[in-house]
Amino acid sequence: MNVMGVILAAGLGKRMKSKLHKVLHPVCGKPMLEHVLDALDGSGVGRKVVVVGHGADAVRSALGDRVEYAMQSQQLGTGHAVRVAEPLLGGEDGVTVVVYGDTPLLTARSIQGMLQLHRESGAAATLLTAVFGNPTGLGRIVRGADGTIERIVEEKDCSLEERGIQEINAGAYCFDNRKLFEALAKVTNDNAQGEYYLTDVIGLFRSAGDIVQGYCTSDPDEAFGVNDRIALSEAERLMRLRINRGHQAEGVTIVDPASTYIDAGVTIGSDTVIYPGTALRGRTRIGSDCAIGPNSDILDSTIEDGATVKHSVLDKAAVGQRTSVGPFANLRPGTRLGKDVKIGDFVEIKSSTIDDGSKVSHLAYVGDARVGKDVNIGCGAITVNYDGFSKFETVIEDGAFVGSNVNLVAPVNIGKGAFVVAGSTITQDVGEDDMAIARERQTTKKGYAKTLKARLKAQKNRN
Ligand code: UD1
Ligand code: CA
Repeated sequence: MNVMGVILAAGLGKRMKSKLHKVLHPVCGKPMLEHVLDALDGSGVGRKVVVVGHGADAVRSALGDRVEYAMQSQQLGTGHAVRVAEPLLGGEDGVTVVVYGDTPLLTARSIQGMLQLHRESGAAATLLTAVFGNPTGLGRIVRGADGTIERIVEEKDCSLEERGIQEINAGAYCFDNRKLFEALAKVTNDNAQGEYYLTDVIGLFRSAGDIVQGYCTSDPDEAFGVNDRIALSEAERLMRLRINRGHQAEGVTIVDPASTYIDAGVTIGSDTVIYPGTALRGRTRIGSDCAIGPNSDILDSTIEDGATVKHSVLDKAAVGQRTSVGPFANLRPGTRLGKDVKIGDFVEIKSSTIDDGSKVSHLAYVGDARVGKDVNIGCGAITVNYDGFSKFETVIEDGAFVGSNVNLVAPVNIGKGAFVVAGSTITQDVGEDDMAIARERQTTKKGYAKTLKARLKAQKNRN
């Protein structure tokens, strides 16, 4: 069956008080509107038309040609908004799913359930409903004596009695496409808000003797609409717990789900443990048997099986199998760590490859470097990669040993198995198996410490 989708996203979203268009605000790292589109894709909806108005250009550049667009220049109501999609979808036979761009928690499963009920019952419209303890602000479902849905009444048009109804319109619908546009032509704006309500087509269908079905979701969160920043953070919290439960169900241990922030697109292998205060963001991929956190912020990075990351920041970094990172490491974009590598405390790495078995255990900076296998980079060693204008490369070959507090002034090459003595400032290449020392020779004056101290003390007393 031909299933189409219309997504309403033309409203201003005034209460967000934001330069960013409301439906583009991210929830767990993904714009609200994309959550809704993904739910439509997941339930087999084909052609999708996004109705744009305010912020149209921003929405278009965010979604590209993933969808078609219909322009609603004036926001005259949700019924009017769907009608502007008529030139694109009007002539089609099939079912049209209508959703709002500001309900990010809607799931593909509910849309599927709605579609199935819709097909089996031969309804003209099937809508998603939910039962709310506090339904303030939402459209109420008015049912007749026989229990069938008669109409939807908006809060502002409710009688006192209707206000008490707890079953609400979640804002997701399946319609017979032709009947939808026929009914929309008859909707008027004779109501408290002076708007053309999409919800009025329900009453029109019933008067015409058509079947209307309600599909009541067991999870009222799905109907959660975001209109301001308070609701945005609440949607984020609900989505976060949902994402975390998904990973837990697949065998990931999350020690404290309330303080673990995992974006929608992240993957995690089984038996990995995520400790509190950890954010896994963007396109991060984590393997099995890893230990991640506490207090780590990992963006667009790949971490292979058995690796550990503690108290660290990773941005576009790749961490190989069984490699350990942190505590307090900063892996910047372009960091590629092999297997069994050790990166310790206060180490910063940028645009560098560090091959299997190598160690950078403490207080080091490695930038624009290619580091081979089984290399040891000592405490306080740094690559001097930048002269204020250009960046230069450092190459450290397999098995080399770089002592503590060494400056490697790039471009420079440290050969296989070479040994760079602690405290050296290296400006010339060091060959295979060579030893390099580049520092002042030490002078020691026998017993002179006592003389020096006596002189310094006398000086202080004179002043
Ligand atoms: C709507 C429903 C209400 C339901 C609630 C669920 C109507 C009349 N009411 O109310 O029954 O309980 O959603 O969240 O449909 N939009 C346009 N163009 C317009 C007007 C709105 O594109 O001219 C878009 C908005 O950007 C928004 C969506 O439609 O994404 C819903 O509009 P909104 O004004 O938020 O409707 P509600 O008052 O929440
Ligand atoms: Ca809304």
